[in-house]
Amino acid sequence: MPFTIAIDGPAASGKGTIARALARQFGFAHLDTGLLYRAVGAKRGDPVAAARSLAPEDLARDDLRSAEAGQAASRVAAIPEVRAALVEFQRRFARSEPGAVLDGRDIGTVICPGAELKLYVTASDEIRARRRALELGADEARILAELRERDARDAARDVAPMRPAADALLFDTSEMSIEEAVARAIACAREAG
Ligand code: C5P
Repeated sequence: MPFTIAIDGPAASGKGTIARALARQFGFAHLDTGLLYRAVGAKRGDPVAAARSLAPEDLARDDLRSAEAGQAASRVAAIPEVRAALVEFQRRFARSEPGAVLDGRDIGTVICPGAELKLYVTASDEIRARRRALELGADEARILAELRERDARDAARDVAPMRPAADALLFDTSEMSIEEAVARAIACAREAG
């Protein structure tokens, strides 16, 4: 049986870094599910058709990391048919052998409710904005406003809103270094396995 790790949380909380480190540590496959919504948001035309016809080359566009792509992703992510079109691919990925790490907003609640380990990673708004501003070389105040707008939309939508699963371990990385957050996540995974 494959081992599935679900990592959810708001934008720039550190979940992607933790997910990549866990995948490397255990030799698991890793899926950044935010990239799926970013790719759908970046395609022209009807987002539902875009989600149904998503192809690997759509995920390789180099403009997907921008703040604008994040906003577009969050808008299409509120459309139920867009989410429905992406469920099967994510669930299949979650069954990768010997295991998989998926990070997003609804992995523990909707995509993989039976995951062996669920983490919900957070950090204060200001710290998340600082991290993302450094990463993108962008203005911190603008990023803070953008993150807050996106988190509010992601948490308020009717389908698969961003929230911790009842059995998720809450992980606040505000006061942690990357190394510390990764070490703790690895310890949690060892305990769960
Ligand atoms: O994680 P990332 O910031 O790349 O996600 C971009 C957007 O995609 C999020 O703001 C959210 O609206 C959407 N998303 C989602 N469900 C996921 C992953 C991302 O709704 N599992």
